[in-house]
Amino acid sequence: KLPRIAIVGSLNMDLVVSMQRMPKQGETVKGEQFHTVPGGKGANQALACARLGGDAALIGAVGNDAFGSMMKEQMKANNVRTDTVATIQDAPTGIATIMHADHDNSIVIVEGANGSCTPAWIEHHAEIIRQAQVLLVQLEIPLASVREALQIARDSDVITVLNPAPYAELPEELLQLVDYITPNETEFECLSGELYVSEEELEAGMRQWGMEGPTLIVTRGGNGVSFLKDGSLQTIRAPQVEVVDTTGAGDCFNGAFSVAIAEGFDLAEAVAFGVKAATLSVTKFGAQAGMPTLDDVNTN
Ligand code: RIB
Ligand code: NA
Repeated sequence: KLPRIAIVGSLNMDLVVSMQRMPKQGETVKGEQFHTVPGGKGANQALACARLGGDAALIGAVGNDAFGSMMKEQMKANNVRTDTVATIQDAPTGIATIMHADHDNSIVIVEGANGSCTPAWIEHHAEIIRQAQVLLVQLEIPLASVREALQIARDSDVITVLNPAPYAELPEELLQLVDYITPNETEFECLSGELYVSEEELEAGMRQWGMEGPTLIVTRGGNGVSFLKDGSLQTIRAPQVEVVDTTGAGDCFNGAFSVAIAEGFDLAEAVAFGVKAATLSVTKFGAQAGMPTLDDVNTN
């Protein structure tokens, strides 16, 4: 039986301008290319789960427009269940404008229909969450909806993974519903309210913050992914690869990690699987195109 993962989150169309280097504030630079490609943290993570052998259902919302149907088609074509994606009449499909340079990107999102992924819509699909081994959520839909999903999962002993991106302040009672939390370094600084310059500082910060509450996993781009094992910092390093586009690498990690946890891997194994998958994902352009299959991960 395939491991079942319920993903509750956003679907965005990514409007991507590729450039040699990012403009500074107030500066104009020439871009090289423009692409419109499927994205959104929820959709990216769901697609990663499905490519990696998970039975993935995405609970979310799109607008009644061309981007919305393209997003749904893309999900369907990749075996992500989409009868759980609402089509909203009075809001456009969410978009992200992305400035993409090789090792870098910056993103502005407009939530659109993702804002209409309501607690009621989550409740309507509660059974899908209850039947999953893992619930995976991010923060591109209303916080009340994230909370609702986490509560449903917790009430049925479904393992919960929260990718706190983009960062938002999280109430203590929401954090109590989370088993694994996966901030990147910047998000972890926001979460803990500290700045980490050295590895030692990061380790101390993780120890301090990770003492109670969810198991903390910090994704660190090219430096790999860190977590605590018996109180000390373990880092699974990412192998060096030719980087084309890092957009969606964090999403790939979260999807892969969740599939591995649903399969019953232990923490270190699941992180290692996630790092391997995410490393492959940056070698291709676009948030979703580079998501590896199980075969890709096993043969690389
Ligand atoms: O994590 C990458 C994603 O963030 C992009 O696909 C974009 O849609 C934004 O949501
Ligand atoms: Na990519």
